[in-house]
Amino acid sequence: MKYQSVKGFRDILGVSAETFSFVEKTARAIFRKYNFDEIRIPTVELSDLFLRTIGETTDIVEKEMYVFEDKGKRKIALRPEGTAGVVRAYIENNLSQKYPSQKFFYIGQMFRQERPQSGRFREFSQIGCEYFGNLSVYADIEIILLAKDILESSGIKDVKIEINNLGCEKCRPLLQKNISEIITKLNFDNLCDDCKRRFSKNPFRVLDCKIDGEKFKGFTPKLCNECSSEFEELKNGLKNANLNFTVSNKLVRGLDYYTKTVFEITSDVLGSQSAVCAGGRYDNLVKDLGGATTAAVGFAIGVDRLVEILEKTVRSPKSEAKSPFVFVCATENDDCKKMAFHILSEIRNSGIIADGGYFEKSLKSQMRLADALGTKYAVIIGDEEIKNKKIILRDMKVQQQKEIGLDGAIEEIKKCFNRNS
Ligand code: HAM
Repeated sequence: MKYQSVKGFRDILGVSAETFSFVEKTARAIFRKYNFDEIRIPTVELSDLFLRTIGETTDIVEKEMYVFEDKGKRKIALRPEGTAGVVRAYIENNLSQKYPSQKFFYIGQMFRQERPQSGRFREFSQIGCEYFGNLSVYADIEIILLAKDILESSGIKDVKIEINNLGCEKCRPLLQKNISEIITKLNFDNLCDDCKRRFSKNPFRVLDCKIDGEKFKGFTPKLCNECSSEFEELKNGLKNANLNFTVSNKLVRGLDYYTKTVFEITSDVLGSQSAVCAGGRYDNLVKDLGGATTAAVGFAIGVDRLVEILEKTVRSPKSEAKSPFVFVCATENDDCKKMAFHILSEIRNSGIIADGGYFEKSLKSQMRLADALGTKYAVIIGDEEIKNKKIILRDMKVQQQKEIGLDGAIEEIKKCFNRNS
């Protein structure tokens, strides 16, 4: 039987894998700049945690979670996102007391059993962060700037930022009433099944419903005075930071924990799944999960989508291809192999990228491989070289070679490396 990867899961190979690493490295450096600390949370949580946080009537919880029972009959879920786990860890480890910094970032795999399509995978990677304990709208501005900084530092230029304000507990009843009035006019029975179910838990979801959303076109939510003025402050702050953005009443997000600010960053380079980053404020979640009342705001970048944009725009596979600087070959003799392998290690220990050790191949095949890998120099060890305590160093481009004494070989290779770098 020939095995294939599971539907919706994929292998990430070669230059793509390198681009993932590059993006992760870039994000780590930017998070440091904003004084965020890394947090590593488990890949699985009790499924109930996601029901309580993301919401029972959301697509993620209703249809997309990988849930299973472990041997202790616990209902476990592969994490579909990072926020719930970070909030759980924040409360469980009493992080509000342990660290002066309340800013955490994470990088890891998430799992959602969605219908696979371009840009939508069942296992995908997120770079996310959660910022606790700051009610100020400047925390929201910082978070949006941080997301943009990571995207831009990775090489992405043209993204669109959409923002919205979903209101606080005070605005909710009024917003709910406004939406109810429209629904009464439209006749509740005419709504799709999803809207009927979701309306009581999260009335906003009807606004972005693919079937019924159009019916609410032109609906402008009325916020309480505090949320209204905070929203103005957010918009002014983003303008002062020279960030272009648009306000979208339709941006309601598919997770129930949000309050006030929500945002999404999209790219036209992506297909229908155009969101490369999304986030917002969730001031009730820590308390809802049993912690103290704690303001919180965060985002998650979809790394698979970010890499897709880079691959389609700036980081072409060719420009990123990496070759070893040295390739070490040996003839069949055991002493030659031993010596060659020792030299290969020495070269690597001196910090130079090196390959070799394919000693089951003929010398000709080894040289062919060195060439195919785009190696700059080949080191060749044969019987003669062992006898004379020398190595052959071959410049693969100009196809010239010289003999060097074994003692000074590594120094000579280092000199070649410094000249080339
Ligand atoms: P989300 O909108 O569900 O938010 O996901 C964030 C990003 O993850 C999306 O914008 C997208 O780039 C990527 N993403 C989501 N699903 C998939 C998928 N099936 N395949 C590929 N990429 C995907 C959250 O997860 C929130 N936890 C964000 C947050 C953090 N809010 C506050 N803090």
